[in-house]
Amino acid sequence: MISDRVVEEVRARADIVGIIGEFVRLKKAGKEFKGLSPFKEERTPSFCVVPSKAFFHDFSSGESGDVFKFLMKHQGMSFVEAVKFVGAKSGVEVREERRGRSRDELLRPHYEALAFAAAFFRERLEAEGGKAAREYLQGRGIGMEVAERYGLGHAPDGWQAFREAAAVHGIDEGLLFELGLLKRSEKAGAASAYDAFRNRIVFPIHSIAGRVTGFGGRLLGKEGRGAPKYLNSPDSPVFHKGEILYGLDKAKNHVRREGCVLVAEGFMDVVSLGAVGILNAAAPLGTSLTDAHAALLARYSKEARLLFDSDSAGLRATFRAADVLLASGVHPSVATLPDGEDPDSVARSGGAKAVMKFVSQAVDVLDRKVAILEERDYFSSIEKKRNALDRLLPTLRAVRDPALRDMYLAKVSELTGVERATLDAELRKEPDGLTAPSRAQPPSRRRPAPRFHGRGPERTLVQLLLRDRTWIDRAAEKIGPADLEDRACRAIFQALIDDPEIKILPAETAPETVRRFEDLMADREDLAPASRIFDDVVSRIQAREIERRNLDVPGDADEAEKARLAQEKEELVKQKNALRPDWSKTARWIGAPARRDAQGAP
Ligand code: UTP
Ligand code: MN
Repeated sequence: MISDRVVEEVRARADIVGIIGEFVRLKKAGKEFKGLSPFKEERTPSFCVVPSKAFFHDFSSGESGDVFKFLMKHQGMSFVEAVKFVGAKSGVEVREERRGRSRDELLRPHYEALAFAAAFFRERLEAEGGKAAREYLQGRGIGMEVAERYGLGHAPDGWQAFREAAAVHGIDEGLLFELGLLKRSEKAGAASAYDAFRNRIVFPIHSIAGRVTGFGGRLLGKEGRGAPKYLNSPDSPVFHKGEILYGLDKAKNHVRREGCVLVAEGFMDVVSLGAVGILNAAAPLGTSLTDAHAALLARYSKEARLLFDSDSAGLRATFRAADVLLASGVHPSVATLPDGEDPDSVARSGGAKAVMKFVSQAVDVLDRKVAILEERDYFSSIEKKRNALDRLLPTLRAVRDPALRDMYLAKVSELTGVERATLDAELRKEPDGLTAPSRAQPPSRRRPAPRFHGRGPERTLVQLLLRDRTWIDRAAEKIGPADLEDRACRAIFQALIDDPEIKILPAETAPETVRRFEDLMADREDLAPASRIFDDVVSRIQAREIERRNLDVPGDADEAEKARLAQEKEELVKQKNALRPDWSKTARWIGAPARRDAQGAP
């Protein structure tokens, strides 16, 4: 049950054109929007949406109604599902009174506290006291419009400003400690809690689905006084630095459209690029790129341009990131910026044009490595070539894409004069102490050998995605191809992310995948109500992933590590239990989804 008040609010705030526009191609015609009937085959558009009246009318089938009615008719959603769906898009929290609590519900207080904090910092930037912060941003080429787009804020220079505001709103202090928004002085007692972010420009960090999960803060003005230039929220139940990239929530669609992601080093780079209209950039949060980051990027693009500093630390970071990306099937190229510059400074002094010049000159990572080795005269003698080879091996080892691997092998073989077969043998060996071991692991070691399952949630998910391509984005926001165990399902999911319209798989696709694809395309199994099935299969896959991570806890950890793992494990078990109610329901649905009608489920 959802209260009438909430239903009304959702209806009032809904962007009916945007929502229906996800399913029907709409064109503006005066005050209305028109399109081909989604309910009946037709050649001339007779379907219209009238935003001022918040309703649609389909003249060819006679259907009409509000945004909820549309979703019920077109997507087979129940009323409650439709309200939730629209609520999520319109920023209205839809709470349904029922028993079990999902993971999202368990973490809702965290998200609410984070959203409160983001609003607090934003308001401080706009307020009287935010003048210096606004001027600082202005001085860095960031106007208020861009600041607003990224939700930038200002943490005032006091010790209690945020704490007091949060107290007025009745936000639990324990939660604020957990989220790293408050800190406690070691010396005095509990009374001495203070704001963690002070005298900083605050960058909210959003999950891929767009929720605030943590913050980065840049010191205003001079460094020193023991305060680091940048401060990030600590990891929390909703914030994992190793799994989140700053700006990707806003960049993801541009990344997909451009077919390429720009990976920069910091917050300011992403925002400054955004300020000059380069919108496909993201950055890790002051840590090196992890496998999880790479897997996340791989969902949106198979091409990455790395725009790191060109000093030696930057280069090391570049090559390390590149190897991690290669292991996730992403092809990295390296843009070389002038000494002492970063994307932020290039964007500010030369605008988008200057940045794009460096981006367009980016070179394949192996070529970049070779060029550096050549500059250092690494190919002039046999001895040196051996050394060069050791430096190239991690990259050869990391690359996962077979075609790219082949090209790399050919190139290195030619450069070093080492036979292909010898290189192949070398690559099968474990890295020796001389070469820095790549953080990236070959795919075979990343998860247990994939098993071929006939049915189950993966098959249902992929089938649903094939049937109704509008679900692909939502699926990719929650899980990635790597979360699927079935090789064919994984490949199809990936293919759909790469090209949501795909009708025929590329020729080089594994026969097993092609068979599965054809099989699913031909399958007419009833998949209504789609949104319910979607939620269930996704949470089932997530639950399994949690279970798998749970098993991965190593036995040889030291005390601190053990304590941390124990806590993490407890958290995982909680999450898993929270998922389970939905999970058991799935079993029934997967078996016979056709038996359920759109309104049938409790
Ligand atoms: P940089 O030191 O390169 O800063 O840190 P920057 O991006 O050029 O920033 P400006 O131009 O001086 O404002 C790059 C990234 O490293 C992390 C942050 O994520 C930052 O965006 N970092 C840096 C920290 O986490 N802590 C620090 O003290 C410094
Ligand atoms: Mn900088």
